[in-house]
Amino acid sequence: MRNSKIAGVGHYVPERVVTNKDLEKIMETSDEWIRERTGIVERHYFEEGVDTTSNMGAEAARKALKMAGLEATDLDMIVFATLSPDYVFPGSGVLLQRELGIKEIPALDVRNQCSGFVYALSVADQFIKTGMYNHVLVVGSEIHSSGLDFSTRGRGVSVIFGDGAGAAVLSPSESNDKGILSTHLHADGEFAEELATIDPGSNKRERLTHEMIDEGSIYPYMNGNTVFKHAVTRFPEVIQEALQQNNYKPEDIDMLIPHQANLRITSYIQQKMGLPAEKVFSNIHKYGNTTAASIPIALSEAVEEGRIKEGDLVCLAAFGSGFTWASALIRW
Ligand code: UT7
Repeated sequence: MRNSKIAGVGHYVPERVVTNKDLEKIMETSDEWIRERTGIVERHYFEEGVDTTSNMGAEAARKALKMAGLEATDLDMIVFATLSPDYVFPGSGVLLQRELGIKEIPALDVRNQCSGFVYALSVADQFIKTGMYNHVLVVGSEIHSSGLDFSTRGRGVSVIFGDGAGAAVLSPSESNDKGILSTHLHADGEFAEELATIDPGSNKRERLTHEMIDEGSIYPYMNGNTVFKHAVTRFPEVIQEALQQNNYKPEDIDMLIPHQANLRITSYIQQKMGLPAEKVFSNIHKYGNTTAASIPIALSEAVEEGRIKEGDLVCLAAFGSGFTWASALIRW
């Protein structure tokens, strides 16, 4: 079976920048608390009527296609990862397809939150490996800011998340020593409600009530401490799994791109893996946590900044709601 490779990457973030100081004006929080606990300084929020989850994804996709030297019409499939789709249904994949002006190729939506991009990458990789498709677009895009509780009640969650999109175009690799070497996916539904937005769900007779809005169950809930503890275990575990499968050691990694959940989590992973800071990519200070978009935005920036070069060993790793966690090892 042939390998797939990442032929192009791109990202897009909405124009509006919201700083910690801006958030201080609307809830009881402080720039100091947010920086200290998360490393976040600012994030981007969408503009209604301008940005949507699908059109931000399309913007990132156009850049990724350009880098790959391909046209949208060359694509064989779209895999779209998001927890914040434009509509309840249909998924954002078909909207992105329409936005790119292409018809009839399949568009698959992936619902795996912070691990969504790596899950989507793995799906795309399988289609290329089997020879079924040649060029697959993988997108992670999120608009969180329209679904957060900006009262003091929601501060533990709302200061963390930001909006943005990233994309990668996957194509067949020239050799089996290059491209995506392996992907590793995991889940444990035992902890499904520890990081979740419960309402409006289909399991209640009335999907949306005034009580749900008043009680705040329409907003994301996160048991921060539990998520943190699991994250710092699962990240190193799934990175090691990828390395072992390919007979590599942590010191062989040229660039580790973890999901940007929290700077403290990233620093912990860096220390646990024994990696120097420059080999672990971080941009959470600029964007906050953009869930499915965080890894492709980081990957795109790392390539743009020349921090990933041909031949480098790149590891992507994610952990988040579900719980789900995943990794991918790539010879660039
Ligand atoms: O991307 C998906 C995966 N997500 C993650 O990996 C997130 C993992 N968890 C975390 O990153 C951290 O748990 C948080 C950053 C979410 C929270 O940090 P923490 O150190 O665990 O804080 P905490 O929730 O234990 O709260 C400590 C205090 C509380 O006050 P008391 O009870 O000690 O008086 C909170 O009410 O900080 C308070 N607090 C805030 N204060 C100012 C919570 N949020 C805020 C806030 N501003 N935004």
